[in-house]
Amino acid sequence: MLRTHNCGELRIEDTNAKVSLCGWVQTIRDKGSVLWVDLRDRYGVTQLIFEPNESNEALVAQVRALGREFVIRANGEVIERHSKTKKIATGDIEIKVEDLEILNASKVPPFVVDDLKDGGDDLRMKYRYLHLRSSQARTNLELRHKMMQQTRIYLDKQGFMEVETPVLIKSTPEGARDFLVPSRVNQGEFYALPQSPQTFKQLLMVSGFDRYFQIVKCFRDEDLRADRQPEFTQIDCEMSFITQEDILQMFEGLARHLFQTVRGVTLKDFPRMDYADAMKYYGSDKPDTRFGMKFVELNEVAQGKGFNVFDTAALVVGICAKGCASYTRKQVDALTNYVKRPQIGAKGLVYVKCNEDGTYKSSVDKFYTQEDLQAWAEQFDAEPGDLLLVLSGEVDATRKALNELRLYMGTELDLRDRNAFSPLWVVDFPLLEWDEETQRYHAMHHPFTAPKPEDIDKLDSAPGKVRANAYDMVINGVEVGGGSIRIHDKETQQMMFRHLGFTEEEAKAQFGFLMEAFEYGAPPHGGVAFGFDRLCALFGGTDSIRDYIAFPKNNAGRDVMIDSPSPIDKVQLEELGIDIRESEGK
Ligand code: AMO
Repeated sequence: MLRTHNCGELRIEDTNAKVSLCGWVQTIRDKGSVLWVDLRDRYGVTQLIFEPNESNEALVAQVRALGREFVIRANGEVIERHSKTKKIATGDIEIKVEDLEILNASKVPPFVVDDLKDGGDDLRMKYRYLHLRSSQARTNLELRHKMMQQTRIYLDKQGFMEVETPVLIKSTPEGARDFLVPSRVNQGEFYALPQSPQTFKQLLMVSGFDRYFQIVKCFRDEDLRADRQPEFTQIDCEMSFITQEDILQMFEGLARHLFQTVRGVTLKDFPRMDYADAMKYYGSDKPDTRFGMKFVELNEVAQGKGFNVFDTAALVVGICAKGCASYTRKQVDALTNYVKRPQIGAKGLVYVKCNEDGTYKSSVDKFYTQEDLQAWAEQFDAEPGDLLLVLSGEVDATRKALNELRLYMGTELDLRDRNAFSPLWVVDFPLLEWDEETQRYHAMHHPFTAPKPEDIDKLDSAPGKVRANAYDMVINGVEVGGGSIRIHDKETQQMMFRHLGFTEEEAKAQFGFLMEAFEYGAPPHGGVAFGFDRLCALFGGTDSIRDYIAFPKNNAGRDVMIDSPSPIDKVQLEELGIDIRESEGK
């Protein structure tokens, strides 16, 4: 070994020890009569000290020639520091260096590694390997590593077997677009990268593996956001001979294990919420339940009083912002402008201030008496000092807009503590979802999800009302995982495809293999997949999953470091039988 210790290891008890350290030069301070170098590695930072005298001129000259990010090896003695610091773990000591070896020089780095404000996002993405030297990036990847290890420990203990499934596959209809890979040997044909290993894990159940998991890369060509990457990682799981309840218990157990071992947080039993209630009370299938501010529907008390906007609305619904009656005109206007932004789409916002003196002041005083407004306040259990914020319109759009406003107010009022965790299961999702664009029903989760047996007879008469044995795990408003009980017989699967608008031929061409497998003794089964990057971000306390991925893509889906995607060689294209000129010309 070139080193005796790492840069995060030495303590006051090591004083007088002769040591060798290796690492990167983080900073150099030259006071003339004394020089310090902060030496960094994966484990921390140790201060090196040099005091120029007649006998060490060569050494000091060497130090003065160092630059940031040089890789060096320093041999010397551990001494107690004069001015100790608690900022770093090695803050009680420093190394009096006797000799130094430059293992490799460095060009001047484009940004100061540990000063995250320096450089900017694009530059840090281009030089990702330098950014990863920062303590924050390192801590994030360490968290990811721990989460991965603990996931394996829990699932292994529960008898799950890790099985790898192929990456070059055929498209799975998970809802996003596929990334495609042309085949050279089979010209004109394409592999698809898996959006998830869904069909394979079901086939493994048919094979009798009964408890499967995989920490696996998935690929989806969809619009990117802070919580979405084109390639991301799932903890993908499947079980046989189980009920939905068994799955919820097992994977609540996984989440609890991770919180306990990685964050030291003990979670209580996860509450369950029906999809229908999640939409009614939070306007979202992933409610942030760290705070209340539940929706209150006002149709009964607010309609029929001559206010046309409410009278013609399918839904009048609001939230109560505790203690916000003192909001100024400007603050209320800001909220109105917020909900009127095109992304949110509300036409306006009605407010009622519950004044401290028991009176009410609203933006619709013309239409409502004090008694009317009091009736509203009672619906909310509002107290003097509270502010009611009310939206109206078409049901789904109004709920969606109020969800945004609720989250906004939750943030404003500091109710979304990153160190508080509020998990729940959202259950009983609808099986099908109407898609305006294609004018037909789509599977809300995926086409392999089993309808609730008691709802099957509604498939023809009211397809939108059929509920599925499908569930999502939601924590702090983030959908961290989702799954379902699967269909495991050919007839139901065929019927499902029919309802999704597949012809028999199309269903057979795409999923014949699965339906055939169902004819060879498929056990009842179900599963779940967690968004591993999202879980890491949640544990780390940030919104962006990019921070927890070693080499992520930017917002345009590009890896700016390796410059990908990129054009490919004409010869390569010819080999694949792809004529790009032809498509360019069109
Ligand atoms: P689903 O599509 O819900 O289910 O995905 C499971 C979880 O993966 C995460 N996720 C993502 N994370 C980062 N970037 C993305 N682009 C992205 N897309 C999804 C989410 C989500 O909850 N085969 C089913 C699972 C099953 O039924 O067992 C599936 O993939 O956290």
